[in-house]
Amino acid sequence: MKPEDTEPQGGGKRPQDHTGNNLTGARTLSSLQELRAAVNECKRCPLWKAATQGVPGEGLVPSALMLVGEGPGDSEDLRGQPFVGPAGGVLDQALHAAGLDRRSVYISNAVKHFKFESRGKRRLHIKPSTGEIEACRWWLAEELRLVGPKLVMALGATAARAILGQPVTVSQTRGVPTRLSASAHLWVTIHPSLLLRITDEAQRHKEFDRFVQELKDALAWIAKNPS
Ligand code: URA
Repeated sequence: MKPEDTEPQGGGKRPQDHTGNNLTGARTLSSLQELRAAVNECKRCPLWKAATQGVPGEGLVPSALMLVGEGPGDSEDLRGQPFVGPAGGVLDQALHAAGLDRRSVYISNAVKHFKFESRGKRRLHIKPSTGEIEACRWWLAEELRLVGPKLVMALGATAARAILGQPVTVSQTRGVPTRLSASAHLWVTIHPSLLLRITDEAQRHKEFDRFVQELKDALAWIAKNPS
């Protein structure tokens, strides 16, 4: 059992993380079917207040490959599913080009609630803070335990930070598998939303192809490394 899993008895002071977030709402899951309800009850950081709902990971369980993004965007917040907006469209295309689809992997996020600022009627995504990433690591750890991946692909620096518990530079770590545990490795790559921001078409195609190749390489790595 993880230390935060026990609530203090007799009205004692609740445990807090280093940013002062109350570490309430953490519980050990018996299956990932409990994750949606658990993240919807979670108040370990303030993001639940403005979000429509929590967005748990979804896909194949157990799965050799687990993809982790940053956090839900506007569409994900409304639908309660990860990667169903514009970045999800790019991810689906890349998975397809690599011979995969989202049902053949497990897809989740470092943070399970949408963080945004309102601009008129639009809700603009904001990067989660270190404290929010730390608070949500509980659920990511539960997903890792229950999905049991051989390879975890961190889509971008926030995901890599959440998995490793320390800051990571994507360009320095990209594509080199590093050991996470006795049974799992980490592979850091770009977040697919980066591809949406490249305005030069030739450059965008080049980066998309590189991302697809990485997904293929990750699959080949899994096949070559039977745990
Ligand atoms: N970006 C993410 O990191 N995750 C999503 O689910 C959608 C967009």
